[in-house]
Amino acid sequence: MTTSSNLRTAEHAIHPQFLERWSPRAFNPETIPEATLLTLLEAARWAPSSYNSQPWRFAYARRDTPHWEQFLSFLNEFNRSWASHAAAIVIVLSKSTFTPPGAAAEVPAPTHSFDTGAAWAYLALQASLSGWHAHGLAGIERETIRQGLAVPDGYSIEAGIAIGRAGDKASLPEALQAREVQSQRKPLDSIAAEGRLVL
Ligand SMILES: Cc1cc2nc3c(=O)[nH]c(=O)nc-3n(C[C@H](O)[C@H](O)[C@H](O)COP(=O)(O)O)c2cc1C
Repeated sequence: MTTSSNLRTAEHAIHPQFLERWSPRAFNPETIPEATLLTLLEAARWAPSSYNSQPWRFAYARRDTPHWEQFLSFLNEFNRSWASHAAAIVIVLSKSTFTPPGAAAEVPAPTHSFDTGAAWAYLALQASLSGWHAHGLAGIERETIRQGLAVPDGYSIEAGIAIGRAGDKASLPEALQAREVQSQRKPLDSIAAEGRLVL
């Protein structure tokens, strides 16, 4: 059994939602109510984490609100060029230490980024379930974020997220229109194998 959806075919049967989620750059002009954005962050809150330490943190701004221009300045020039039409920008951070149960002091949290990646994935899946799209952003201005959000030592700046409703790709510059397609994936046997590491 396989699953097909959104111009994608899984090699094994999975919930179609995993194929439905994708990352557009063309957004329609709709603004996002804060309550809707909070439902996406709520999904992220329920991600699993090592020791249930919940190291993820999210700072957000919605378009047409006072914080918007500052959050746009947190993106690199390329991402700003299209994400300026998004409905919200979220900056994802993580706390790199935690206090284990019964311990008196904080210790390094080896999985703070791994846990926070799970939270981002929950947010992205909830976004597509709710008719929105969440687009991850590695192209961010980390020093601008560190200063603008007064990020203290012990917190890592992980990535950004642009959120919006998918729009007409004709609204994008020509070079980006060609990239506005649902991407495919490496074959499963090139990333997973029984008893050995696939390189
Ligand atoms: C952590 C992360 C960072 C990303 N950074 C960028 C980025 O800076 N700019 C961009 O246009 N897309 C970015 N992407 C989008 C990826 O290129 C995209 O998720 C990938 O090609 C798979 O496509 P899909 O999400 O449509 O399935 C990022 C995605 C993730 C998860």
